[in-house]
Amino acid sequence: MISQTSVQRLKEMISSSNNIVFFGGAGVLTESGIKDFRSADGIYMMDYKYPPESVLSHTFYTKHTEEFFDFYRKYLCFPDAKPNSAHYKLAELEKQGKLKAVITQNVDGLHQRAGSKCVYELHGSALRNYCVKCGKFHDFDFVYRSQGIPECECGGTVKPDVVLYEESLDSDVIEGAVNAIANADMLIVAGTSLTVYPAAGFIRYYSGNNLVLINKDSTEKDDDFGLVIHGKVGEILSKT
Ligand code: APR
Repeated sequence: MISQTSVQRLKEMISSSNNIVFFGGAGVLTESGIKDFRSADGIYMMDYKYPPESVLSHTFYTKHTEEFFDFYRKYLCFPDAKPNSAHYKLAELEKQGKLKAVITQNVDGLHQRAGSKCVYELHGSALRNYCVKCGKFHDFDFVYRSQGIPECECGGTVKPDVVLYEESLDSDVIEGAVNAIANADMLIVAGTSLTVYPAAGFIRYYSGNNLVLINKDSTEKDDDFGLVIHGKVGEILSKT
């Protein structure tokens, strides 16, 4: 049961902040009907011929490219996904001039579809795909509708602009996200197990005292937060 006192406190913090930053993960997607990774019913918990988390690595991509794309199209591509109340609330707060940036670990572009303008995609985006040979851009559908290994007209493999394990994050995105967090007067962290680095480490750049966690399950970092609400982020943000 969500504590109404906590939601009221969250509402007050949001109304008195004008430089809010949101840091989110796959838990923001579950209210759009998309599985996260580490919940009991998450993608990494399922039986698969390989350990699912190992498939999303650069090594696996290079050694088992076709298998990688089969998994990627099946479990990381959501052609019918729609923004949910969390996405829309954040876009509304940005429009009101209260929220300055969304920092997401997700790769689905739903924050932008909901209207958010300043979005830092720490792990890239499935909406951007590039030929490894000639660099040509290909859209989401090109990869999603391909069979086997998606191939550019030039014969090169078309690789999603998604950060796999063993790959580095984009330095401009890192800089933007760190600056946004460092300047924020309120940081709302939601829908993330805070287990994957360097992303999870970005929280330490926040120096204010309006640090909030909204997460269905508890995390190892709960004690670092001034306010922790265990519940659904879309539902909770809709009440603020
Ligand atoms: N509201 C709030 N929290 C939720 C909701 C919801 N509606 N649904 C799920 N959660 C919580 C779960 O309790 C879980 O703690 O969201 C968290 C999601 O955690 P993960 O599945 O680990 O996702 P995330 O933290 O984004 O993973 C980080 O791991 O494999 C990599 O690249 C992948 O970006 C991903 C990264």
